[in-house]
Amino acid sequence: MTATADRLPDPALVVLVGSSGSGKSTWATARYRRDEIVSSDALRGVVGSGPHDLDASDDAFALLERIVDARLGRGLTTVVDTLGLDDVRRGRWLAAARAAGLPAVAVVMATPDEECRRRNRERDRPVPAPALAGQLKKARAIRDRLDEEGWDVVHVVEPSGRAVESTPERALGSTTPERRSSQGLRFVLQVSRFPWGEEPAAWLSEIAVAADDAGFAGIALMDHLIQIPQVGRAWEPIPEPWVTLGLLAGLDTGLELGTLVTPVTFRPPGITAKAAATLDALSGGRAFVGLGAGWWDREHAAYGIPFPPPRERLDDVETAIETMRALWSAGTKAHDGERVSLPETTSYPRPAHDIPIILGGSGDRTMRIAARLADAVNLPSAVATLDQKLPLLQKHAEEAGREVRVTVLDLPVIGRDRDDTWARVERLRGSTPAGQYLRRINAGTPAEQRDRYGALADRGVESVFLAVGDLEGPDDVERLAPLLT
Ligand code: CTP
Ligand code: MG
Repeated sequence: MTATADRLPDPALVVLVGSSGSGKSTWATARYRRDEIVSSDALRGVVGSGPHDLDASDDAFALLERIVDARLGRGLTTVVDTLGLDDVRRGRWLAAARAAGLPAVAVVMATPDEECRRRNRERDRPVPAPALAGQLKKARAIRDRLDEEGWDVVHVVEPSGRAVESTPERALGSTTPERRSSQGLRFVLQVSRFPWGEEPAAWLSEIAVAADDAGFAGIALMDHLIQIPQVGRAWEPIPEPWVTLGLLAGLDTGLELGTLVTPVTFRPPGITAKAAATLDALSGGRAFVGLGAGWWDREHAAYGIPFPPPRERLDDVETAIETMRALWSAGTKAHDGERVSLPETTSYPRPAHDIPIILGGSGDRTMRIAARLADAVNLPSAVATLDQKLPLLQKHAEEAGREVRVTVLDLPVIGRDRDDTWARVERLRGSTPAGQYLRRINAGTPAEQRDRYGALADRGVESVFLAVGDLEGPDDVERLAPLLT
């Protein structure tokens, strides 16, 4: 297996292989945080007189092994910066990665021998020429053997100076008029926390304008009565979304506006239909309705709202979709449908366009309902989950003779660079061990997120609802903009 640098698995064990002067440390420091790199030279400097104190090698390597084990044991990315030419050590690191359940990557420097010699000569303390010759010979032999050692990825760094490449800057606001990224995805900013201080309306407006400028296709608000523990604390503000969307409808943006998702239990479906039709009229046809069965008993109890068992709530989802569609349809005629009978369907203002209904949830019944009645289904963004759910959805849709679009909710941690990303992970993970948090959350720079989004696009995902835990203000929206290009 081979891969380009942006596609290297992460977290992972990364072992550098190459002679002195082949550019290992340069490659590593351009890509990884300082603390992720375990370097025998640096450790010689810690326990000895400096990076070249060969008398300190035993102590340095003993420490290196401890550090590698400790980091891998926590599921953290570990870049081993030594010559990488010792078969026994390489085997031990590979086994440690396996034991920790982390992918193992060998990074081989393909720098020409002559270039390594030239760089070596220019150094303050060159490696003696015969020693370098020995390293070069060994490196060549190992390069041919690596494929058989069992590395998950053998990544060859070509000598084109690519070792110092950095993430390309992407222009802001360069999405197409339909607000699709170059990978064909639409991004909708899901706002789930409202750290708006003293000025709720100003904060919301700034976020929306920044989202519009950045190229988001829309804004979705969470619909809960109490802030959910996954996102924040119970006493943090969580506004009624349909009222709040009304404020956003009054701004000069092209954003689509809706909820992700409205629990069917909260409002009689006719009232949701009325709110959405009003929003659609006020916004010139930019409303959507995210709908779900609801799941949090506590908020229902607190607000005196009945919370029937799942089966009944899913029945109610079917009823709700039928009711909303009946009220949104032309005219005022009576409706006599599968689950619902209404003596008339007088509902004005009319929606300005066909309001899409996005059904949230990934249970089998939800998918069957979505296939029969909804415009789209919203699934978790994990590719493994999608690969499991999409064939089922496809089957149900074929049976229903319909097409249903697929959207996903994505909850990544996105930093401007690797250091910034890590600082955010440290802040957001709370007391969850970092390795465990990273397995759940996709942390990375926009460039690193791109392959994952490509995989979603390949699977036919239409829109990504993007929710980040550190959306404090408009600067944070701007930070996400490179994702949308
Ligand atoms: N270098 C370069 N162009 C590159 C990579 C490295 O000019 N694409 C230079 C570096 O600036 C440095 C020298 O080559 O002066 C050696 O690079 P380094 O990354 O330090 O090589 P290592 O493989 O880490 O060498 P060592 O094993 O001695 O640590
Ligand atoms: Mg080095």
